[in-house]
Formats: sequence, structure tokens, C-alpha cells
Amino acid sequence: MNRTFAFRIVVALFALIGAITVAACSNGPSQSPIESKDLNPNKDWLLFAESDAERYRLIQTQLRGFDQPMWEVGERYRMFHEALQNENYPLAKYHWSKIGTTIRNGVAKRPPRVNNANLFFLDSLHGEVADLLEVETSETAKEAFDLARSACVSCHHAEGVEWMNQQSLLQLKLE
Ligand code: HEC
Repeated sequence: MNRTFAFRIVVALFALIGAITVAACSNGPSQSPIESKDLNPNKDWLLFAESDAERYRLIQTQLRGFDQPMWEVGERYRMFHEALQNENYPLAKYHWSKIGTTIRNGVAKRPPRVNNANLFFLDSLHGEVADLLEVETSETAKEAFDLARSACVSCHHAEGVEWMNQQSLLQLKLE
């Protein structure tokens, strides 16, 4: 192996390491690491907090923001779809009711979402879908599902997360 060739291999290796490092660092916002000195060593992490204010801060962090209720909404929406597909209307009504509760509780944690939540969902749409479900026919079930889906998709658009709609969950249809 001559020296120029060896030099080229070394340069190529450095370029590869550099590219891997850049790729690893640009993988979206990362979570800052937690140092063990910041953690209460006791497993009663809430009971042993220094003050009530600290206790509430810890609870608030664990309760998260809008993502966690939306995650539940997504799971229930999938089960809502399945229940309608199986013509199990009581189960579909149950999930639809819990979806409403979850969105209402979610905006309590993130008040800036309230206007669109009301406009697209809580003001009238939730009730309209519930009324259609009461009829318990496959035609009205389809109408209810289409209406529900359009509300989810529209609110994602209005809230600037339209990419949320590009997933199989939000492309489900009722056959
Ligand atoms: C207030 C308007 C609004 C309505 C109504 C709404 N969403 Fe969302 N959804 C959002 C926002 C905003 C996010 C992003 C949350 C975040 O970034 O913390 C989101 C995120 C999600 C996620 C991703 C959750 C995760 O982190 O895994 C799913 C799934 C989802 N929505 C499903 C639905 C479904 C299904 C419906 C209808 C039944 C619906 N959403 C109705 C605003 C809405």
C-alpha cells in the first residue's frame, strides 16, 4: 500500500466518523440527561419531596402536556373504529364518550389549545357524533366515523401539526 492510498483511507475514515457524529446529533431535540445527584434516593419520590411546591412540580411534570391525552385519544379512536366495524355500538359510544373527557382534560393542561378544541370538537361535533351513534345502523355509524375523523384532522391542521394526519390511524375508514 503506497502512502497516498493510506492517506486517502485515513481521510475517508475521518469523514465517515464526522458524518456519523452529525447524524447522531441532528436526531431532533434530545432530552437532557438526569444526574443521580438531582434525584431523591428514596423510592417515595413524592412523599419525600422538600415542600408541597416541589411535590406539585413533580406531579405536574409526570402529568405531561397535550401529548399524553392525545396518545390516549389515539388508542381509543382505534378501538372506536374497531367497535364500529364490529357493530358493537355500546363499546363505540363508551370510547367516544371517553375521547371527549380526555380532550376536555387535555386542554385544562394546555389552555392555548382550548379555542380550536371547542371549535372543532367540544362545542357541537362531539354531541353530533354521539347522536348519530344512538341510531345504531351501519349507515349512521359510517357518517359518525367520517365526522369524527374530519374533526381530528381539522384540529391537527389548525394547531400546526398537520403531519400528525400522515399516519395510518388517521387514514382509517369504516368499510
Ligand atoms: C385541539 C385540537 C385537537 C383535536 C380536537 C384533536 N387533536 Fe390530536 N393532537 C393535537 C395536537 C396539538 C397534538 C400534538 C401534541 C403535542 O405536541 O404535545 C396532537 C397529537 C395527536 C396524536 C399523537 C399523540 C402521541 O404523542 O402519540 C394522536 C395519535 C392524535 N393527536 C390523535 C387524535 C385523534 C384520533 C383525534 C380525534 C378523535 C384528535 N387527535 C383530536 C390537537 C388535536
